[in-house]
Amino acid sequence: MSDLSGKHGLIVGVANKRSISWAIAQAAAAAGARLALTWPSERLAENVRELAASLENPVLAPCDVGSDQQIADLAATLDREFGGLDFFVHGAAFAPADALSKPFVETTRDAFRTALDVSAYSLVALTRAVAPLLEKRGGGSVLTLTYIGSQRVFTNYNVMGVAKAALESSVRYLASDLGPKNIRVNAISAGAIKTLAAAGISGFSSILNVYRERAPLRRGVDQSEVADAALFLLSNAGRAVTGEILMVDAGFHVMGL
Ligand SMILES: NC(=O)c1ccc[n+]([C@@H]2O[C@H](COP(=O)([O-])OP(=O)(O)OC[C@H]3O[C@@H](n4cnc5c(N)ncnc54)[C@H](O)[C@@H]3O)[C@@H](O)[C@H]2O)c1
Repeated sequence: MSDLSGKHGLIVGVANKRSISWAIAQAAAAAGARLALTWPSERLAENVRELAASLENPVLAPCDVGSDQQIADLAATLDREFGGLDFFVHGAAFAPADALSKPFVETTRDAFRTALDVSAYSLVALTRAVAPLLEKRGGGSVLTLTYIGSQRVFTNYNVMGVAKAALESSVRYLASDLGPKNIRVNAISAGAIKTLAAAGISGFSSILNVYRERAPLRRGVDQSEVADAALFLLSNAGRAVTGEILMVDAGFHVMGL
């Protein structure tokens, strides 16, 4: 059911081998998809190229999601190389370091704007750019990655929580707009995982311990478990699911005291 053979996918958000987007890329490739991967800056290009060497005939392109021009260029590249698109995974997020260590009340206008632009608006801009390519295939699946810090306070998650709230709301509005074109838009809300992005949040390892103590499954989750859930949403298995925030967090979200 989670077969992706013959499908073409765009994955934005691979930084290194720990990236959740890389786990999704590997799972999608194993399910038969041909992939395009991107990098936001030359500094990360080499990492992405090295990882992509293990994929079958990938398309590689730059894309800083804060740049409308780079997004347009990426869509043109995908059209030329794939002639359409079946799925798009959005795993880009960023907030300035200060905003993830100082009290939230001290968030600057600039940090707020950057975090919301890169981590939330980029889903809207990229989805708009690839929608005509998804339409060419009779529809498709868009998936983004979020965190429960959108709804509850996690120390130092701060403006990223606000950005995730905007991202999750964008999922619902995009799902409504694009559903008539058979384009589904969903998010996975993953439990805490040690990645590059997570390392930017002060005191992150103490969050991991809380999952081990309090989540119903008494453990955290890993990248491969998020990737397996992603396959469901990207493939025909998830064909009736849209506008959904799927919790893949060992059940952490159901707990009160
Ligand atoms: N790690 C966790 O605990 C966790 C939990 C829930 C959700 N998430 C979300 O999962 C997604 C992937 O994060 P990750 O944990 O795999 O870390 P990661 O650091 O591997 O991925 C974040 C990605 O965002 C990209 N990015 C940042 N600025 C960009 C820009 N301007 N243009 C294009 N790309 C840009 C980075 O290059 C990187 O590839 C993020 O949205 C993150 O918030 C992570």
